[in-house]
Amino acid sequence: MIEVLGQGEGEGPMAVESRRRIFLSGAAIAVAGGAGLMVSNAMPSQRASDGQQPLAHLRGIVPAAHSRTIALDLTERERLQGGGAVRRLQQAVVAADNRASVDTWLALGSTVFPKGAQQPRGLREMPSFAGDVLDATQSHGDCLVQLTGPDADAVRDAAERVEKLAAGWRLRWQLDGFRAENRVENGKGLALNPFHFTEGFGNPGTERELADRALVRSGQGEPAWAIGGSYQVVRIVRFATELWDKDSVPEQERVIGRRRDGRWLDGTPTKEEPNFAADPQGRLTPLDSHVRLAAPDRRNPPPLIRRSYSYDRGNGDKGLVFSCFQRDLAQGFEAVQKRLEGEAMAKYVLTTGGGYFFVPPAGDAWIDAAFGS
Ligand code: HEM
Repeated sequence: MIEVLGQGEGEGPMAVESRRRIFLSGAAIAVAGGAGLMVSNAMPSQRASDGQQPLAHLRGIVPAAHSRTIALDLTERERLQGGGAVRRLQQAVVAADNRASVDTWLALGSTVFPKGAQQPRGLREMPSFAGDVLDATQSHGDCLVQLTGPDADAVRDAAERVEKLAAGWRLRWQLDGFRAENRVENGKGLALNPFHFTEGFGNPGTERELADRALVRSGQGEPAWAIGGSYQVVRIVRFATELWDKDSVPEQERVIGRRRDGRWLDGTPTKEEPNFAADPQGRLTPLDSHVRLAAPDRRNPPPLIRRSYSYDRGNGDKGLVFSCFQRDLAQGFEAVQKRLEGEAMAKYVLTTGGGYFFVPPAGDAWIDAAFGS
C-alpha cells in the first residue's frame, strides 16, 4: 500500500483511480478496525454510513508526491458575463482529471462570485494574521486549479493543458510542491517537511473522520449546492531553514512538541495520545510548542485535515505550501491559527501568500445553482 500510494512513476489514469480508491478504502478498512488488511480491489465507499457525504470527489485528500497550485483570475470581460468561464474551467479540470495520471480539482475564491450570488457562508478573502507579510502577487485569486500526482512531469503537462483550455482566465500565481518520503501509514498520509519532521500524524486515519472534518453538511446554514464541498485554506509559508538548522535536534523537537519521527516528548508512542494534563508547566512538552497549541484538548482534535506540500524556489526560498480542508473555517483553520499566535516556531516561519477557497461538491450542478445557467 505504501509503495502504491507514494512512489509509482508514470501511472496511467486507471492506476490513479485505483490509488484514490486504495487510499479511501484503506481508510475505510481502518474504520472497520482491520488495519493492516489487504487492500486489493476494494471499491471506494460511495457514502459513509449515516448520511455522511462521499469523500471521493475531494481529490486533495489523497496525498501525492508532487503538486502544482495555480491561482487564476477572470478577465474583466468574462467577469461581466456570468458563469460561462467557470463552467469552461470546470470542464477543463474534469478533462485533465479524467485523462492524465494526475488528480485535478477546482476551488473557488470569494471574488469569483458575482454580487448577490449564493456563495459559501464563510468564504471571504484570507485575512492577514499576526506575523503574515502577504504578497499580493501570490495571494488570493478568483479560482484555484490544483494538480497532484506521483510524477512531477505528468503534473506539469496536465497543468499546461488546463491553462491552454482556460479561456477567459489569466494567471495570478502558481507554485510547485512536493512531499518528500510521501507515504501512508495506518490510513494517515505522512511526509517529511523541510524542517526534517514527519508531518501528518495528527490527521485522522479513517474515511469517516476525514469526511466528518472536511465536508460541509446540511444544517450548517450553507447554500444547498455547497453541501458535500469543503473549505480549503492555502498558506505559502517560507521557512528560515538556516536559522532552524543551527538549533540542536532536541531544541527543534521542543519547538514542535514531538520528536522528528512523531514520538511524543513525554515518551508516549506515536500512535497514542500524550498526557498534557500531567505536564501543566510544560516541562516535557513546552506550552508554546506547535502541537500543544494546535491541539491542546486531545479528546477534541481540531476539525481540519492538513495536506501540505514542500516548495523550493531556489535562493533559500523554501518552505511549505500549507493546505488544509475543513467544513467550517472558523472552527477549523482560524481557531488553530489564532491559538498558534506566539508559538515558539513563529520566528522560523513567514507566511507570504495563499488564500481561502471552496472546493465544490461532485458533479457540476453547483455551477447553475451558484452562478445561474
Ligand atoms: C507552516 C509551518 C508548519 C509546520 C512546519 C508544521 C509542522 C507540524 C508538525 C511537525 C506537526 C506534528 C506532526 C503531525 O501531527 O502532523 C504538526 C501538527 C499539527 N499542525 Fe502544524 N505545521 C505548520 C503549520 C501549521 C498551521 C498553519 C496549522 C493550522 C493553522 C497547523 C496545524 C497543525 C495541527 C492541527 C497539528 C496536529 C496537532 C496534533 O493533533 O497533535 N500547522 N505540524
